[in-house]
Amino acid sequence: MATPPDHLDALPEEFRARPGFLFGASTSAHQIEGNNVSSDWWVLERTAVGGFLEAPSGDAADSFHRWPEDMDLLTGLGFNAYRFGIEWARIEPEEGRVSRAAIAHYRAMVVGARARGLTPVVTLHHFSSPYWFAARGGWTAPDAADLFARYTETALEVLGDDVDYVATINEPNMVALIAGLSKAFAEGRFDEIGGTEHPSDDEEPAAGALPEPDAATTEALIRAHRAAAAVLKAARPEIRVGWTVANQVFQAEPGAEGAAAAYAWPREDVFLDAARGDDWVGVQAYTRTRIGPDGLLPAPEDAERTLKGWEFYPDAVGHAVRHTAEIVGPDVPILVTENGIATDDDERRIAYTTQALASLAAAMRDGADVHGYLHWSALDNYEWGSFRPTFGLIAVDPDTFARTPKPSAHWLGGLARGLDRTDRP
Ligand code: FCB
Repeated sequence: MATPPDHLDALPEEFRARPGFLFGASTSAHQIEGNNVSSDWWVLERTAVGGFLEAPSGDAADSFHRWPEDMDLLTGLGFNAYRFGIEWARIEPEEGRVSRAAIAHYRAMVVGARARGLTPVVTLHHFSSPYWFAARGGWTAPDAADLFARYTETALEVLGDDVDYVATINEPNMVALIAGLSKAFAEGRFDEIGGTEHPSDDEEPAAGALPEPDAATTEALIRAHRAAAAVLKAARPEIRVGWTVANQVFQAEPGAEGAAAAYAWPREDVFLDAARGDDWVGVQAYTRTRIGPDGLLPAPEDAERTLKGWEFYPDAVGHAVRHTAEIVGPDVPILVTENGIATDDDERRIAYTTQALASLAAAMRDGADVHGYLHWSALDNYEWGSFRPTFGLIAVDPDTFARTPKPSAHWLGGLARGLDRTDRP
């Protein structure tokens, strides 16, 4: 592919200067595996499709069977890291019953990643839970943290000695926010959820324009994170444990600084604050959320929007990293665990990512301790209710599941090849 001149054609020095920099792509289990039948999401899809969800996950990208091909592609493209999830609902499909086959499956993935020179970054929980866990009260059940810790103990066998980076819970702030949303929905407070019983994807408000996260869920998630971290560290002290936060890049208009800080605390900062004692923290940024003296501001009228309806704002990741570093302090390294764009114009993906990497390099130049960049997403996948917002570097045919790397995949993988590989396993 001919790379237009405004597209980055070499990795900025900031990335190359850091030995062992992880440069790769991310996925989550439910979004790519298919047939995650013991999960709460699978059950939700049965009832919510036609309402607030457009489509069920079904076979998704069939990565449950095609993960070797996915990893072959990533390594062949030039990447050195892959973030993927393991699914609690498969490992413990019924309360207390562990699936040996699921353990073997995920263990093979970890070994398979290493064999291909991909550093695995493993997520233990990415939005979906076992149905039995949700049905008995989810995160706010009194013993939720113990149950998550027990699952983490089981997952140690998957990790073996091969996984250095583990994310306990993906976007706890979104999990708590969805709990708040469900409560508002159940109680008929529709004005707080966009004024409609059926908010559509096209009209999705800015990331922050949602109700306040449920405070009890927030506390429960922090407890569960700490319990899982304790299990991991007790078994393997060298393992690096963190969690990944949805960074909403709150930007205050003049005079709205106080309002913005108050708005950001329960929605983001409390979760970053909880990461202060961790080994790393994951930054996940896509767009920004502007706040004026009277509250949230919409994206500028002339702003380009992505297939999620979000403002095209590639500087988000640099802002998110700076903000995160301010809260977690200098001793907690950062991994960018998600950053990308939903678009069917792959040129815009390259343009977005070029600018995103520049903003990240600038934050690193100013001192942010960033150890990796994992693009969302490796594959086009199930975007929590719809297959339309395509974030993938690699296209997936919905009928044959054939994978086709897009020009952006070749371009970004080519940048990754510029890293010093002497430290590769
Ligand atoms: C994040 C989620 C991820 C994906 C991206 C677009 O909030 O962690 O699963 O849906 O957004």
